[in-house]
Amino acid sequence: MKILITGASGQLGRVLLEQLSNNDTYEVFGCDRDTYDITNVDSMMTLITQQFQPQLVIHCAALTKVDYCAENPDEALRINGYGTRNIALACQKIDAAMLYVSSNEVFDGTNPNVYLEYDKTHAINPYGYSKLVGEQIVRDLVRRHYIVRTSWLFGHGGRNFIHAILNRAKDGHPLRVVINEVATPTYVNDLATAIIQLIATELYGVYHLVNEGRASRWDFARYVLDITGFRETPIERITSYEYQRASTPPEYSVLRNFAAAQAGIVLRHWQEAVKAFCKIEGLLKEE
Ligand SMILES: NC(=O)c1ccc[n+]([C@@H]2O[C@H](COP(=O)([O-])OP(=O)(O)OC[C@H]3O[C@@H](n4cnc5c(N)ncnc54)[C@H](OP(=O)(O)O)[C@@H]3O)[C@@H](O)[C@H]2O)c1
Repeated sequence: MKILITGASGQLGRVLLEQLSNNDTYEVFGCDRDTYDITNVDSMMTLITQQFQPQLVIHCAALTKVDYCAENPDEALRINGYGTRNIALACQKIDAAMLYVSSNEVFDGTNPNVYLEYDKTHAINPYGYSKLVGEQIVRDLVRRHYIVRTSWLFGHGGRNFIHAILNRAKDGHPLRVVINEVATPTYVNDLATAIIQLIATELYGVYHLVNEGRASRWDFARYVLDITGFRETPIERITSYEYQRASTPPEYSVLRNFAAAQAGIVLRHWQEAVKAFCKIEGLLKEE
């Protein structure tokens, strides 16, 4: 199967490219902003319908800096919404399947339990809105599609929450972390494996793919410090109202992988995943 990955030098795209390239079933091509800007319809149309002609496009490219999106909502919509449209139109033209990677931020976060795949979406910030527009366009234009929502990604080689917390702890800076933002940290390596399992099923539809369990930002930071030798480092609990930022994240956006479980796809608990990540990074100090 020929697969095109957009955003191939991003956190998720990179790992997907690596994992898929190790599998003889797939012929994979990764593109990124330097070579193919997704907002350029002609460029995406030529790549997909003439040059590579994939059977499936895994669309990972996005403007992911949520605060930047809040300050530049038109740019967020242009890239995450209308950039997605360009890819969807090209897929429609050659009847390729499309997997669109979406976000927990399509929900408003007022549900303190869990969100299922077909629960009502309602974005409360420009990033979430732009991702939701992308979802709707994929649904409207691409006959065979997967919409995969995930949350709080961490992976090797990129900027992420784990490194940010550890850097502050190592520098001796006081740590203040939000308690009223709750979701599920998700290891990019686990997500990529689950996506590859999913595309083998051809069971199209909406999926939530996150590691198991839930955490507040504070829980996440606490766990990271506890397993990396900073158990004694205090973290002040604050609310999002005390942490001024441009974007307004949903408070409770815990996704439940109901549809994936029906297809036999199960991810491990987020704490196990964080431990595995820290072990590979040489950060793990205690079992
Ligand atoms: N990160 C998270 O916590 C998170 C959570 C939920 C959902 N998601 C979704 O998961 C997907 C992958 O996220 P990620 O963490 O891998 O993101 P990432 O590391 O920011 O990678 C996104 C990639 O898209 C590229 N890109 C941005 N604008 C582009 C354009 N106009 N044309 C072509 N490429 C463009 C970026 O290039 P530049 O670096 O040059 O801008 C980057 O390589 C995204 O769809 C995101 O919305 C992420």
